[in-house]
Amino acid sequence: MKDSQMNMMEHSEAKIELLSKYMDRFLNIMNQNSYIHDVHLYDLFCGEGIYPNGGKGSPIIFLEKIKNLHFVNKAKSHPHVDFHCFFNDLDDEKLLKLTASIEEKNLHYEEMGTLKISNQDYKDKLEEVVSILEKLKGSEKAFIFIDPYGYKEIKADDIKRLLSSNNSEVLLFLPTQNMFRFETKGTPESLQRFISELVPIEEWPKSETGLNFIETLLDKFREYLGSEYFADSFIITRDTNQYFCLFFFTSHIRGFEKMLEAKWAIDEEEGRSWKQGMRTDLFADQEKIAKTEKLKSALYHYLEEERTNGDLYKFGLKQGFLPKHVNSVLKEYQINDIITVEKTDGSKIRRGAFYTGYEYFRDEPSKIIVIRRR
Ligand SMILES: C[S@@+](CC[C@H](N)C(=O)[O-])C[C@H]1O[C@@H](n2cnc3c(N)ncnc32)[C@H](O)[C@@H]1O
Repeated sequence: MKDSQMNMMEHSEAKIELLSKYMDRFLNIMNQNSYIHDVHLYDLFCGEGIYPNGGKGSPIIFLEKIKNLHFVNKAKSHPHVDFHCFFNDLDDEKLLKLTASIEEKNLHYEEMGTLKISNQDYKDKLEEVVSILEKLKGSEKAFIFIDPYGYKEIKADDIKRLLSSNNSEVLLFLPTQNMFRFETKGTPESLQRFISELVPIEEWPKSETGLNFIETLLDKFREYLGSEYFADSFIITRDTNQYFCLFFFTSHIRGFEKMLEAKWAIDEEEGRSWKQGMRTDLFADQEKIAKTEKLKSALYHYLEEERTNGDLYKFGLKQGFLPKHVNSVLKEYQINDIITVEKTDGSKIRRGAFYTGYEYFRDEPSKIIVIRRR
């Protein structure tokens, strides 16, 4: 067994960090939404839970988060959501270890929701999950984590089917570096199969770098899933020029925003990737400033036409930036008289107010118009 499969390595921790940061946000939103009563968390390649070096795997993260939330809710007598966990892995030995850790650390109480652990092959488990998702009610939501060693078992159609009920989100890890390496070496059958589901193989552009491969894959996922869905990537850089990737899929713009927030919480400069040594380098403690140059020029062009706050919210996210970044660029444009801002109801507007948050997007997407003057 490889060391990376035995122990939790730094780059695997990056995966877990993103999962963890996203779960904080996802679970909070679910918990605050009075229409949601049940949240289903699926970990289809869950692994053993706690690694010999003490590293915590995905099922432990799920359980720690929901246990915490459950008991905070209980203390406040808040009407709580039931959190149901479904952990699956083909390896019985790993599942035994996982079960023992859950018991030993008291990570699960029946009152939190159900906990089911299974040892099915991913393919079979997938069929079961798809059929459960189809029957979910409006008051139920699901999150599915797919973290295989390779990519041979995974199909793009799996993602489409998992998303089709529109009440679920998927986080998928793909060893893109290995895929890229093979792309340049005659493209083996499994990679051909993977790619040809997304696009006719002859239309797949040859990638110059591993990063390039990820960008193409994300574009093709987006085209394949259609405009109803949001797809995003988080790059994990290992050694030099070795790029692995987490892909995230959702039908809800709020989920997309929250994933972006999680990415920016890890990569405070660019909101897009994790790099080895990020936490330990000489400058790790210095405050990082978000690089918004790309957004600045994209926004400038986008403002060739008048835009509403709703347009700007969506546009910023699609460029990989948060409402606070859009605000700071607009503020600068306002100070330099590049834009004027008007309220659509004709009332007076405070300088620096752009209403680019999600709530305004949802409730008052045309509250203001931003006009470029030059
Ligand atoms: C990358 S590890 C998962 C790590 C885990 N998410 C964590 O955070 O610790 C991949 C897991 O997939 C399991 N596995 C391999 N093939 C499988 C299959 N066909 N179906 C289900 N699980 C499988 C392996 O036993 C292994 O535990």
